[in-house]
Amino acid sequence: MGLRATRATILLFLFFLSSPLPSSTVIAGGSGEDYVRPLPRKTLSLPSKPKRSSDPQQVHISLAGTQHMRITWVSDDEFSRSIVEYGTSPGEYTSSSQGESAFYKYLLYSSGKINHVVIGPLESSTTYFYRCGGQGPEFQFMTPPSEFPVTFSVVGDLGQTGWTKSTLDHISQCKYDVHLLPGDLSYADYQQHLWDSFGALVQPLASSRPWMVTEGNHEKESIVFFKSGFQAYNARWKMPYEECGSTSNLYYSFEVAGVHIIMLGSYSDYDENSDQYAWLKTDLARLDRERTPWLLVLLHVPWYNSNWAHQGEGKSMMAAMEPLLYAAGVDIFIAGHVHAYERMDRVYNGGLDPCGPLHITIGDGGNREGLAHRFNHPKPEWSVYREASFGHGELKIVNSTHAIWSWHRNDDDESVKSDEVWINSLASTGCIHENRPEYRKILMSP
Ligand SMILES: *[C@@H]1O[C@H](CO)[C@@H](O)[C@H](O)[C@H]1NC(C)=O
Ligand SMILES: [Fe+2]
Repeated sequence: MGLRATRATILLFLFFLSSPLPSSTVIAGGSGEDYVRPLPRKTLSLPSKPKRSSDPQQVHISLAGTQHMRITWVSDDEFSRSIVEYGTSPGEYTSSSQGESAFYKYLLYSSGKINHVVIGPLESSTTYFYRCGGQGPEFQFMTPPSEFPVTFSVVGDLGQTGWTKSTLDHISQCKYDVHLLPGDLSYADYQQHLWDSFGALVQPLASSRPWMVTEGNHEKESIVFFKSGFQAYNARWKMPYEECGSTSNLYYSFEVAGVHIIMLGSYSDYDENSDQYAWLKTDLARLDRERTPWLLVLLHVPWYNSNWAHQGEGKSMMAAMEPLLYAAGVDIFIAGHVHAYERMDRVYNGGLDPCGPLHITIGDGGNREGLAHRFNHPKPEWSVYREASFGHGELKIVNSTHAIWSWHRNDDDESVKSDEVWINSLASTGCIHENRPEYRKILMSP
């Protein structure tokens, strides 16, 4: 047996070792005893190749600083150009921008050419028509508004199963401006072709509204003895970290209308001496609550969670960063990771606090691992609504003082609004500590 064959055998063995186990049988339970839950669905078998190899594939867009959008796509043709032509009428491209491209290799896999092109300045609340690489089909997107109201669709732990498909269908029925994804996109782990099929699956949505994502554990390539990191994620889902002064694609912030949104990295260092901590502090110190009265934080691993799944995993990050975020006055804190929905009250330091953020766990996009059915009993006082079902969230920020959050259960292909709550901004309830010296000190200390 040659060296090559031996290596292939070892690789196959490692692939087998690190393959996720199929989830066990699902028993209906959780909080809503009367609701009989459907079984998990299989991973979709998706075509990963388009008709013509030179056509753009896996097109998705993301906000890239004020009035700019980053267009990302993959091309099989290495000579195709990283150019986007665009305009406000179909087929009439009055502007164009040039960008960058890169390939990556992982074990035996070589990616297509991954293109990133930033376009703008763009008008707000405007439909743009665009074409990637100077050829192929026309796409269109709508830019978010510059003022309230603004609507976000929210869901984590998407994966690519039959449930993912129906969750995406429900999201597409909602009238939203920006999609927020708190980690676990493709469930590729190290299996790179799953990034390609995920890109194809989400293209209809992600090419028409900005998708803003942060990393989860399934973004990480993890095979023992091999390079581990976020190689595919960073190459394919480039977020506007440079635009906000972050040095890592794993954490960044951006603004939409009057909302400042911080995407934290659960899988990046977060202690007081870390780059992420230093960046977060700088970002919070720059906040202007007159301009952006709402402050949102998203990350993968929840800090408050009454589900059995992933209990306590967010503890050390919470210990490091919660005081800082509390001092800044975070309105809403959204996590994924736990495959269930849970809405908490306003909390800080482990208990109820009217000036703490309202926490939400929404890792229920429809991934292959199924749902997390078991919750702690009795229910903690800070847990308001919890249910192990797939679904998605919608957050409409109505104005500087009011927002409405709703959760839509994916009830066997029907979207059913199952939880809804009005939220007042901390700016309107006298909780912004900016001018209180003890909190100012936490934010401004070196
Ligand atoms: C914000 O919206 C809420 C709900 O529609 C409304 O009751 C409130 O008066 C509005 N506030 C302002 C300042 O417009
Ligand atoms: Fe996760």
